[in-house]
Amino acid sequence: MKAVVQDRYGSPDVLELRDVDKPVPGDDEVLVRVRAAGLNAYDWHLMRGDPYVARLALGPRAPRARIRGRDFAGEVAAVGRNVRDLGLGDEVFGEVDGTFAEYVCVPDAWVERKPAALTFAQAATLPLAGNTALRGLRDVAGLRSGQHVLINGASGGVGTFAVQIAKAFGAEVTGVCSTRNAELVRSLGADHVVDYTREDFTRSGRRYDVVLDLAASQGIAGLRRALTPTGTLVLGSGGSPGQFLGAPVLILQGLALSPFVRQRLRPLVGPAPSKAVLAELRELADSGRLAPVIDRTYPLGEAPEAVRYLEEEHARGKVVVTV
Ligand SMILES: NC(=O)c1ccc[n+]([C@@H]2O[C@H](COP(=O)([O-])OP(=O)(O)OC[C@H]3O[C@@H](n4cnc5c(N)ncnc54)[C@H](OP(=O)(O)O)[C@@H]3O)[C@@H](O)[C@H]2O)c1
Repeated sequence: MKAVVQDRYGSPDVLELRDVDKPVPGDDEVLVRVRAAGLNAYDWHLMRGDPYVARLALGPRAPRARIRGRDFAGEVAAVGRNVRDLGLGDEVFGEVDGTFAEYVCVPDAWVERKPAALTFAQAATLPLAGNTALRGLRDVAGLRSGQHVLINGASGGVGTFAVQIAKAFGAEVTGVCSTRNAELVRSLGADHVVDYTREDFTRSGRRYDVVLDLAASQGIAGLRRALTPTGTLVLGSGGSPGQFLGAPVLILQGLALSPFVRQRLRPLVGPAPSKAVLAELRELADSGRLAPVIDRTYPLGEAPEAVRYLEEEHARGKVVVTV
């Protein structure tokens, strides 16, 4: 089968479309014929081995998982003997390493039936970013109906889901984005939009019960200034390519300060894939409360260009590779 593989860490130039063996599912796995793969910052973190310290876990010269891509939507092509709830031809979506490929094996616990209302490309955008937005707002922030939440980075892959999920929870939502994305963020349901090219939300005097930071564009003092005295800051940014300070420093500052202040300062650390969360995302999508925004779609062979575009950190919603 064809797959996008890397043998060393580096820029998108290290990604190559190649023939590799088609995987065989284990007893608790499902073999999926991939129809679309959504991109995430996760992909370039693994591709580059960035931050360097992550290489201790990922592998010294290249990631042990050589095929890139994490999110997928596709059709079940085979099932392991312990898999009961899925069968041949079922349309599914989920999260596992190695989805820039014609086929991928995924543990049964990380795959669910795809939302009927969505195309394969749309469904492939949901798993990682939707999981991050849902868990960040609900489990880390404890967002409740009637609370006021600010989402910094509202027009990106995670932010476009976070705005819609926060609205579905009944929150009052402020989205921070640039001028060109203001209309998009409003159309997703944001009650207020702050254009970061014209206004600094940390200096406006307005205070929010929850701030979900996906941009790492402000220091910890500014982010805290935008919070109510007992508000919750969720530090969700993973940092930019080649940037060794920034997001990790924010997280360390948040962790160090948190025990001494009334505000809750919480990191959002890669939530594990979950069948239950996939089912919740499907329910939100099928009921019309969550609609993916796709910026660009690339064929499998152009996956390096897709990652290059994502790395610019100005995608409007999600970037997808179709297989
Ligand atoms: N903790 C976790 O588990 C987890 C999981 C997934 C992602 N993440 C992290 O979450 C962050 C966001 O991910 P993503 O997939 O949404 O990234 P993304 O799609 O690359 O985000 C791009 C968006 O960021 C906006 N942006 C750029 N500079 C900004 C600024 N100064 N203020 C506000 N918005 C700005 C851009 O808008 P303009 O073009 O208008 O500037 C663009 O729409 C990343 O750092 C990623 O690593 C964390």
